[in-house]
Amino acid sequence: MAADVDKTVPERERRNGLRSPGSGSWFRRGLWLLLVVCGAPLAAFGIKFYRDSELLKRHEEGVRSLGADGLFLFSSLDTDHDLYLSPEEFKPIAEKLTGLIPPVDLEEDVIDDPNGEALILEAKMQPLLLDSMTKSKDGFLGVSHSSLSGLRSWTAPATPSSSFPAGQFRVFLPPKGKVEAGDTWWVIPSELNIFTGYLPNNRYYPPTPKGKEVLIHSLLSMFHPRPFIKSRFAPQGTVACIRASSDFYYDIIFRIHAEFQLNDVPNFPFWFTPGQFTGNIVLSKDASHVRHFHLYVPSNRSLNVDMEWLYGASESSNMEVDIGYLPQLELRSTAPSTPSVIVDETGNVLDSRDGSNDQIQFVFEEIHWTSEISQEEAVRRLEVTLYPFKKVSYLPFAEAFERAAAEKKLVHSILLWGALDDQSCSGRTLRETVLESSPVLTLLNQSFISSWSLVKELETMQADERNAALREKARLHLEKYSFPVEMLVALPNGTVVHHINANYFLDQTAVKPEDEGATFSFSGGFEDPSTSTYIKFLKEGLEKAKEIMTHPYLPF
Ligand SMILES: *[C@@H]1O[C@H](CO)[C@@H](O)[C@H](O)[C@H]1NC(C)=O
Ligand SMILES: *[C@@H]1O[C@H](CO)[C@@H](O)[C@H](O)[C@H]1NC(C)=O
Ligand SMILES: *[C@@H]1O[C@H](CO)[C@@H](O)[C@H](O)[C@H]1NC(C)=O
Repeated sequence: MAADVDKTVPERERRNGLRSPGSGSWFRRGLWLLLVVCGAPLAAFGIKFYRDSELLKRHEEGVRSLGADGLFLFSSLDTDHDLYLSPEEFKPIAEKLTGLIPPVDLEEDVIDDPNGEALILEAKMQPLLLDSMTKSKDGFLGVSHSSLSGLRSWTAPATPSSSFPAGQFRVFLPPKGKVEAGDTWWVIPSELNIFTGYLPNNRYYPPTPKGKEVLIHSLLSMFHPRPFIKSRFAPQGTVACIRASSDFYYDIIFRIHAEFQLNDVPNFPFWFTPGQFTGNIVLSKDASHVRHFHLYVPSNRSLNVDMEWLYGASESSNMEVDIGYLPQLELRSTAPSTPSVIVDETGNVLDSRDGSNDQIQFVFEEIHWTSEISQEEAVRRLEVTLYPFKKVSYLPFAEAFERAAAEKKLVHSILLWGALDDQSCSGRTLRETVLESSPVLTLLNQSFISSWSLVKELETMQADERNAALREKARLHLEKYSFPVEMLVALPNGTVVHHINANYFLDQTAVKPEDEGATFSFSGGFEDPSTSTYIKFLKEGLEKAKEIMTHPYLPF
């Protein structure tokens, strides 16, 4: 490693073993660390499969007869990791070879009413801007063509337009007991926790969707044939919130964390993970009529997709990560759902969909919401459902400083390469552990105004001539930044009093394999090492601020 040190890298970055994005060999080492950040909790669980000597033997046989790449493909199908393929596990290959897709299991009570209404959805897409990817800066040097082939060839939705029975959208109806505007619930619950770890990277074909997953899977299949409606990493699943309610209708907003597998055999997997899918549906309370449906990937941030691809047969060690910008990916209803069969006054059946009945005009009554919350409030509630750490609000950079000045608090700020509440790897570990722990939440709530920003956003701010004060604050922040994530404590005037790099933080709190069993205590109340280290960091920040500002300005 020592021979590898580049003397042109600034000392601050060299200490962290990393360079800033876009400067040469940064990526390989950066990735290695990102993988440590992301993969560490899983490693312990992955290993246990191989403790079984029987499995080890099968594994060796597998390598002998298939080679590493062949075994990789075999394992991608072997969802229960027993090194045997069941007919169910072989299904994706059978479908590929025969071209026949067996019928899916719908939920028992979701039998489509042949006389029910139909909703037509249109898919729109503008492909990912390749030059928004960090790797584009050196012309994708060292990235094999096959890695990106799935990404480059995905330029349009798989199905531009499709008709769905309105009744299928009942999956978005709230469960019993959730009736008020503001109520939230999980449509597809997350199955990830610290004990299940993460789902494997070496998969090509989504598992067969069941129950409520079926519709979400069909919707996302309009974009690309291989949607995984349960993402590998948290946040995972689908949440919904009643935004408004009338006597007959709900307006429900939802948020989906899913991803696509863009590569197919024989290329290595390429995971394409939008920050989120969101949207809303206005539907009747019996789901017989859908007034409006919209699902999209938000594109108002400068980067909105996380990408991870493997370039070797080993599950963990050969992975690249990048982030990019996807201008548009959305589904919209063209009109409210309409009956497929209508009967006129004289009892004649008219088919509304054969195009010969242009004279049929549907008139839809206006909806008067009897209770509602704002769009912003509904979005916030979805976020809190997905991320307990959002119980403390994270404000935009400028607003956080204003609020801190007004409330005489410090700014607790997280500066990252990728987004904290997207699925980007860099924020994952923080979010899933320390920021959700209740002692940290309490301290943040008491003495800090929290904020997170992308490096790219602050760089733009720093270059903006119009707001000198904000420019300076951005500059002071960036000055202290090291890849991939920096946590900072700042005075309301922008002076950074304390900061800690995420890699350093993780070193401090690393769980060594031998005492892994003893310290995996993540339930609230337990002070795991990362929580106490983070509290120490925040308290040191408060102390340092006190030294600088020796008057009762600060709340301690
Ligand atoms: C992006 O748009 C969403 C809603 O459309 C909004 O809630 C959010 O604040 C916007 N974010 C930025 C960075 O503008
Ligand atoms: C934050 O503090 C306020 C006021 O003291 C309190 O109402 C709120 O419940 C606290 N929130 C958390 C997450 O501790
Ligand atoms: C912020 O305030 C502190 C204490 O008054 C002072 O030491 C520091 O120089 C100020 N920083 C800026 C950027 O004005």
